[in-house]
Amino acid sequence: MKELKVQPIRNGTVIDHISPGRAVTVMRILGLLRPGWTSTVTAAMNVPSNEGSARKDILKIEDRELDPAEVNKISLIAPHATINIIREYEVARKERVQLPEKVSGLVKCPNPNCVTNHEPIKSQFLVTSRDPVRLQCGYCDREVGEVSEHIV
Ligand code: CTP
Ligand code: ZN
Repeated sequence: MKELKVQPIRNGTVIDHISPGRAVTVMRILGLLRPGWTSTVTAAMNVPSNEGSARKDILKIEDRELDPAEVNKISLIAPHATINIIREYEVARKERVQLPEKVSGLVKCPNPNCVTNHEPIKSQFLVTSRDPVRLQCGYCDREVGEVSEHIV
């Protein structure tokens, strides 16, 4: 049987083990859907993972390595993702994203009356659930609905 395979990349970042269906959200958060993007990006969605019947999404971004703020944002959307830095076809570094206990500055509070939306203070959220990720504002206690829609 002829099989379509996603090719290995030479240099760049592979974001692996993204929850199925979340690759597009990760692309949006990283700005990969905006015009002016220059690296080659390959997305594989709903592919069988080798661990049993589970499915996953994978994103391959060529010639670009992510900065720590981007990795933190990914942890909010894909808490099980691994970030693989590829150099000359080899996995030079592999790290699992780490969802912190508290999230500061990455998310905007959905409450229009929240002090963080009126004063120049950094937002702070408590992680109340890890999978799916749920956040609660440390200032006004408001729960953040769909976290990906409030990432700044
Ligand atoms: N990969 C790639 N290009 C390369 C090397 C690796 O696109 N030149 C991709 C692989 O296809 C895989 C990911 O990077 O999706 C991690 O590679 P590797 O660590 O070799 O795979 P696994 O051992 O399966 O990773 P894990 O244990 O994290 O599932
Ligand atoms: Zn708030």
